[in-house]
Amino acid sequence: CGIVGYIGKGQAQQVLTNGLKKLEYRGYDSAGIAVYDGEKVQVSKSKGRIAVLEERLEQSPVLGSLGIGHTRWATHGRPSDVNSHPHTDETGKFSVVHNGIIENYLDLKQELQEEGVTFVSETDTEVIVHLLSSLYDGDIVSTIQKAASKMRGAYALGVITEYEPDRLVAVRYASPLIIGLGEEENFIGSDISAVLEYTRDIYILEDGELAVITKNDVTLMKIETLETVQRNIFRVDWDMEQTEKDGFEHFMLKEIYEQPNAFRKTILNRIDSAGKNIVFEGLQLSSEQIHRLDKIFIIACGTAYHAGLVGKHVIEELTRIPVEVDVASEFRYRRPIVTDKTLVIVVSQSGETADTLAALRESQRLGAKVLAITNVPGSSIARDADEVIATVAGPEIAVASTKAYTSQLIAFYLFGIYLAQVKETIPEEERKVMIEALCKLPEQTEVVLQHANDIRMYAEAIKGHSSLFFIGRGIDYAVALEGSLKLKEISYIHSEAYAAGELKHGTLALIEEGTPVIALATQTELYEKMASNIKEVKARGAHVLGVTLEENIELHRNVDDVCLIPSAMALFTPVLSVIPLQLISYYTSLALGNDVDKPRNLAKSVTVE
Ligand code: G6P
Repeated sequence: CGIVGYIGKGQAQQVLTNGLKKLEYRGYDSAGIAVYDGEKVQVSKSKGRIAVLEERLEQSPVLGSLGIGHTRWATHGRPSDVNSHPHTDETGKFSVVHNGIIENYLDLKQELQEEGVTFVSETDTEVIVHLLSSLYDGDIVSTIQKAASKMRGAYALGVITEYEPDRLVAVRYASPLIIGLGEEENFIGSDISAVLEYTRDIYILEDGELAVITKNDVTLMKIETLETVQRNIFRVDWDMEQTEKDGFEHFMLKEIYEQPNAFRKTILNRIDSAGKNIVFEGLQLSSEQIHRLDKIFIIACGTAYHAGLVGKHVIEELTRIPVEVDVASEFRYRRPIVTDKTLVIVVSQSGETADTLAALRESQRLGAKVLAITNVPGSSIARDADEVIATVAGPEIAVASTKAYTSQLIAFYLFGIYLAQVKETIPEEERKVMIEALCKLPEQTEVVLQHANDIRMYAEAIKGHSSLFFIGRGIDYAVALEGSLKLKEISYIHSEAYAAGELKHGTLALIEEGTPVIALATQTELYEKMASNIKEVKARGAHVLGVTLEENIELHRNVDDVCLIPSAMALFTPVLSVIPLQLISYYTSLALGNDVDKPRNLAKSVTVE
């Protein structure tokens, strides 16, 4: 979920809806705002996208210069008008927007119900607002302190009350929140992008802090003691690049086509002028620390996790350091074996994913150094990590990640080669050849994109199927997983990715006459084994699309359709082979009439654990 807030000289409604649009990547099940109109707090909220809220506000605007807003990704309670935020208490005097989860909300709800409070929604958030109302002692700050001492969980809040209409209060416990500082106006937002249109001066709220915000002033305090805290202003020096579709029908397609330039920008300034060495400006990790490493963990969610699976192949192959890849939500809860000789790499496009952030903190607590690969400078993960390698893909708007994923792969290539350079695990000459090959990837990607139309035809052919399989071996298997996720996310067709050699141990039973199978065969060393696996599915009636290198054109004899990608080093093929898979998902989703950029049930960045 995303939260915003405003207090100042202007009209809150416009600022809040603008901010919410910037936060829509955090969820779009429902949206709402609460604005104090001089007498009462008026709430306007509804199920559906922010556009639905905007229509409603056009009909009946809410006027006033103090307000809070919310865009929701449902956790507790289905998307509905009544479950939308802001939530208000029975008197209508308190309004709250919330990002996160109140873990003990059922106990609190029961206590409040016993006191006679009636609940109208199924959310955990409603507990907060009733708690404030029942504990109110004439000062919203000390009331929040009392309420916070009862609540458990990770949360960020924006609170307003009719009793104190000159104040907006922001609270942060583990879920991110920032304050934008303006002239006779101040803002709150779940991230910087929400306020960047209005100010570049930011206070970043730390865990366990609250901010009391008036039109002209911001006071930060520790929630437990209400002791004032001093904070330096964080000045934002980056811009939100143009986030328009540039003539493309969808952001996803635009972002697919932006990949060659995203790679160029991610590589830029990271190779020395002789083309022999990788340079990471600002990287603190010393040569001694690198030599001491005995294990690397890569931790991420979703598509970023799939980038991590490729990263494992790259780092192990180039450095022989063992790499373990873990889903962030699993990592924390199984007592991971992390020491001060472990490097933890967290991968996150948004830099805001709650599970990844929690894994980062847990790793630091256990003594590891954490390196973040992220696309958003200034994000929570970028700020908390010890080291950052930025991918320079530009803002990614479509929920299904494309250019961020492939840029993460480029970051892994650069970092893997860098580690190998420091550890001297590959000869200098070989490194030079590798760097040359890496620099060819943007151009080779352009070649793959020229064949988008052939892929469109393939998408037409699979759109009626209810199930699909992606198979591959080695690094191709990692790409198969990403191809399958992409298809599920936006076409809603069931699909599974399988290690090609493992298929015969069970899943082969699902292959029937005509079942589409997408077989990745880009690894020359594994090519023959892969050809046998393709024959196994063909023999059971599968319709196979092979994705292979241009020199393997004879694969044609074994498959029904073939998609050729330019010749590349074995470790680098994922960047090229994933492009047809991205396009297959895109065109299938399009052919099925789905909302490509905002698929059902999903959010671009999930800020709850
Ligand atoms: C969400 C998105 C996925 C994304 C994942 C991790 O689930 O829908 O596309 O891969 O979060 O996001 P991150 O911003 O951490 O890379």
